[in-house]
Amino acid sequence: MSGFKERIFSGAQPTGNLHLGNYLGAIKRWVELQETHECIYCVVDMHALTILPDPVELLKATREITAAYIAAGIDPKKNIVFNQSRVKQHAELAWVFNCIARIGWMNRMTQFKDKAGKDRENASLGLLAYPSLMAADILLYRATHVPVGDDQKQHLELTRDIAQKFNNDYSSRIEQLGVGIEMKSGDETINGFFPITEPMISGPAMRIMSLRDGTKKMSKSDPSDLSRINLVDDADTITKKIRKAKTDADAIPSEVEGLEGRPEADNLVGIYAALAGQDKAATCREFGGKQFSEFKASLAELAVATMSPITQEMRKLNEDPAYIDQVLRDGGERAGELAEKTMHDVRDIVGFLQN
Ligand code: TYM
Repeated sequence: MSGFKERIFSGAQPTGNLHLGNYLGAIKRWVELQETHECIYCVVDMHALTILPDPVELLKATREITAAYIAAGIDPKKNIVFNQSRVKQHAELAWVFNCIARIGWMNRMTQFKDKAGKDRENASLGLLAYPSLMAADILLYRATHVPVGDDQKQHLELTRDIAQKFNNDYSSRIEQLGVGIEMKSGDETINGFFPITEPMISGPAMRIMSLRDGTKKMSKSDPSDLSRINLVDDADTITKKIRKAKTDADAIPSEVEGLEGRPEADNLVGIYAALAGQDKAATCREFGGKQFSEFKASLAELAVATMSPITQEMRKLNEDPAYIDQVLRDGGERAGELAEKTMHDVRDIVGFLQN
């Protein structure tokens, strides 16, 4: 993407425990990216309000998720770590985007359809507008890259649509004010204010599935705790959950093609590969022909070795809420400065009087 400085933004909702899917699909990659990029990692508490209306739980989960980020290796000094609601410009930009996005776009979001269920009329307006706030999170920092799991792909496509429509609708105003950056929009070159953000969705962990059903995503909301490995699980629990994970009767294939049509086998091989920092083909080469009982023992060992230090660090941090609050305050201040720069221009662009 020409012109825009590369910047990473991502976030997770403080709703219950983080699980291995969140860790491998998102947070582990955030840790890697901090070596090469300027990164902003957010605890999206305003999003959590769409499904977690208990204030005590929300406060607790906000601190716990922040502890998980830090325990996983995110450096809050080098990067910006903060909770979303602290930076009011998220809500402000989301309102502008509510006036850009179309209701039809929102109605097509599969996560909205899943979460609203059959009684859509009774779903909150916040749940419907969720992707518009998510676009605001990202574009408030004019972030160019967003590392997420596969389940967020549709929301990121919508973020691109919102950026594109804003850039088009206001192109002459953006040019007149001199706040844009030359960029391609289809065949035309326009003066874009927002970057067309690139999703970063790749690798063996982009879609970690339930340990009980290889066709369902590993999720915080699954009623069965055996379906997921939580970041707070101890070594015995992790080992037990892996031992009980659903598999089929065949051995591990030596080639990755042999995983086709075997969702549970594919999932466990993918988890091993992601934990080991290799691809699925390498894992198949290593374990090809072995029975699941043997493979599961190696997987449990690797999972415990990877997760235990993180869990221990999280426990320590959870005992120091004053430190966590300080991290979020400091991150919020730094995020707020960047956010205000963008929002100041946005107010000028759309015609809000502010001086
Ligand atoms: P959330 O809180 O559901 O999940 C946080 C991150 O974990 C990833 N993830 C998974 N990856 C692989 N396999 C799984 N089973 C799995 N489950 C979850 C998610 O893809 C995500 O990357 N809407 C977002 C939060 C958000 C956000 C943002 C993200 C709000 N604003 C701006 C990026 C940029 C969400 O609900 O993630």
